[in-house]
Amino acid sequence: MIKKHRALCTGVAAAAVAAALLAVPSAATASGQPHPGGADDTATASLGRLGERAGIRIGTAVDMAALAADTPYRTEAAGDFSSVTPENVMKWESVEPTRGTYAWAPADDLVAFARANHQLVRGHTLVWHSQLPGWLTSGDFTADQLRDILHRHITDEVTHFKGSIWQWDVVNEAFNDDGTLRNTIWLQKLGPDYIADAFRWAHQADPKAKLYINDYNIEGVNAKSTALLDLVTRLRAQHVPIDGVGVQGHLDTQYPAPHDIADNLRRFDDLGLETAVTEADVRIPLPVDNTEREAQAEAYSTLLQGCLLTAHCTDFTVWGFTDTYSWVPGVFGGEGSANILDTDYRPKAAYTAIRQDLALAAHRR
Ligand code: XIL
Repeated sequence: MIKKHRALCTGVAAAAVAAALLAVPSAATASGQPHPGGADDTATASLGRLGERAGIRIGTAVDMAALAADTPYRTEAAGDFSSVTPENVMKWESVEPTRGTYAWAPADDLVAFARANHQLVRGHTLVWHSQLPGWLTSGDFTADQLRDILHRHITDEVTHFKGSIWQWDVVNEAFNDDGTLRNTIWLQKLGPDYIADAFRWAHQADPKAKLYINDYNIEGVNAKSTALLDLVTRLRAQHVPIDGVGVQGHLDTQYPAPHDIADNLRRFDDLGLETAVTEADVRIPLPVDNTEREAQAEAYSTLLQGCLLTAHCTDFTVWGFTDTYSWVPGVFGGEGSANILDTDYRPKAAYTAIRQDLALAAHRR
């Protein structure tokens, strides 16, 4: 209870703390002109509001268990962000744990939460090799059966959420780091055309949703991002309805953040595609020291600036905002502290850096 109370206070005060730390000129002082909106609230405005002024959405992944149980979490998720992504509840194992029986309720709750808080929703994710239901991975299906199962899954899920989803991550993590296609159940049984089919089926079910291909380790120019570029170039030439490329942005302070993110994203922009940073977090080998915190802030800033410098980069989404619920410690041994707020919802240098970058980008795009 005490912890919750403290967290609530610090969570709500996050912007104020950031203000105290924020030694940047505001949009008003930088230009010498009063802010067009009237009084300058750069120091206290939500991330979403700062993002709006800079021309992008600022989103977060949402953990539905935390949203239900943790009031400070809910307050921060509702107040600071202008879009949300379900961290798990739209994945296949969540929506269809038993064949033919759908479990939409947690995802419906997120859509309702987003609507109540004037947020857009990124749907995540329709075709992936991970978090598949057991009945699917252990079923010995023929290629034709599997194709029908995938078609039906995409049609039913996209139809269920039709009109509520801004951007769908239609295909997730289809590539290996060397640029070859990942050897998933989909590639093995359906061949490489499963990607084009997935986009066509999703578009048929909700023609207005923006359809994305999403992956990690594609922030900078490298073999994987270039293979993805080649793929989307071919898909475009074939009139496959693909709208955007999502760069996940799972970084680690042990490795330098790529400094050619804008150069990379511009390659997709030039094809007429949208781009987005969809899952930003920057993990740190534990224990954390101040140098690591600064490196983390710089990595977040590098990702965000890559987006801000790209004309049709639509959003910057963090993969959760507090270390309390981060996926990192469970997956990357000895690492953690990957989010922009600590376990008491206190802003880190990374949070301040994001606010600063957004404030400086206001009205410049
Ligand atoms: C992760 C979630 O954060 C975890 O809670 C879950 O146990 C595993 O998946 N790339 C993705 C996300 O596209 O869906 C993953 O999310 C993180 C890596």
